[in-house]
Amino acid sequence: MTDPSPLDAYRGDILDLRGDPAVSGDAAVRFVPDGWLLVRGQRIAGVLDADAEPDPRWRRHDWRGHLLLPGFIDTHVHAPQLDVIASYGTELLDWLQRHTFPAEARWADPAHARRSARRFVRELLAHGTTCAMVFPTVHRAGVDALFEVACELDMALISGRVLMDRHCPDALRDDTDAAERDSVELIERWHGRGRCGYALTPRFAATSSAAQLQSCGALLRAFEGVHLQTHLAENRAEVDWVRALFPDARSYLDVYARAGLLGPRSVFAHAIWLDADDRAALAASGSAVAFSPSSNLFLGSGLFDWAQTAAAGVPVAIASDVGAGTSLCQLRSAADAYKVLALQGQRLDAWRALHAITRGAARTLRRDAELGHFETGAWADFCVWAWSADALQRHRVELARSLHERVFAWLTLADARNLAAVHVAGRRVPLGADGFAGSDALGAP
Ligand code: GUN
Ligand code: ZN
Repeated sequence: MTDPSPLDAYRGDILDLRGDPAVSGDAAVRFVPDGWLLVRGQRIAGVLDADAEPDPRWRRHDWRGHLLLPGFIDTHVHAPQLDVIASYGTELLDWLQRHTFPAEARWADPAHARRSARRFVRELLAHGTTCAMVFPTVHRAGVDALFEVACELDMALISGRVLMDRHCPDALRDDTDAAERDSVELIERWHGRGRCGYALTPRFAATSSAAQLQSCGALLRAFEGVHLQTHLAENRAEVDWVRALFPDARSYLDVYARAGLLGPRSVFAHAIWLDADDRAALAASGSAVAFSPSSNLFLGSGLFDWAQTAAAGVPVAIASDVGAGTSLCQLRSAADAYKVLALQGQRLDAWRALHAITRGAARTLRRDAELGHFETGAWADFCVWAWSADALQRHRVELARSLHERVFAWLTLADARNLAAVHVAGRRVPLGADGFAGSDALGAP
């Protein structure tokens, strides 16, 4: 029987990574100028050179002069914090109390949570991000709402109810046992449904009791394939506080290690204030770090040492951490990552930056077998980007003498204005102010 899936061929400058450029250098880069990206239904069916035309069965989409890239993956971002992005004047602990917790408390209203979750997913896509690991709030309705939107769109989304049973406003505080019951119920409802994955989400060591962290560890062992996301050693006052709360632990990371939270599906955001033993423990457990440069700069948290982290063998992805980060656009995150490394005498080339928001990010989520690249059989999550959105971008990109120079300049200067089209699981998602025009359910105000 013939496969009835639609056949679509997208023509443009195709760019993806076939491996890790930190390991294989330029050999990891696939650039096919004026090539064809073939999509059969929801999956990538192949990449053709310019001189190899698809046969007439393939419906053609002409994006000549545009870049076709895998959809970006954001491994650390907070859905409710669109309400507090760009809030003035504070470091982490004060920022949480003053701006973030009040915004998160509003998700107690399920209608608000639903509207906000839809707005958030729409904004992710409108910035070229087609897969994300997301912090919602402690409220179940918000978790349901995020996963519902993801299922409607066939989008890969990893999330889970935020857990915090101390040191937070009453309106956000868990009962430890109820939180565990909720997590189990939500794992059973959502993990593995569509392209959704569940992440146990203790906010950070300061807002979870040792008992709550232990309960997370037990759930992580009990449920195959479930992820863990949390914050780690972001800010010096936070690190001091955690040391005072857990005097027996060797380090901040050790608090999590003792609870059994390290492992190949664990993503730790920030990881700035670590020592060599911490990095070795992360590497040995297969845990990954979500480097969040925009957030680290905005909150004045510190400079993440990528060189030492990578040398220890810890996988690193670049994340937005909105709303402490100030843009959902992963190109902006990558450009900020370059600057954070430059302040330490380190360099981030365009290929490693791109890897850390595509294939490498998928790796930290254990989805790289079929996400973050254009290998045949991968999910057809991809975006079409204009090489330039204004005269200055055009001028700079045209002057480039090498592919790396061109892509680096583009990465550094481009933003959501350059985004021309977004495809999730092979389907084009309508963008624009009223977003998702094809699906009124998603047209949140
Ligand atoms: N640490 C604990 N919660 C948060 C949060 O919401 N954002 C950031 N950047 N760090 C945190
Ligand atoms: Zn965060």
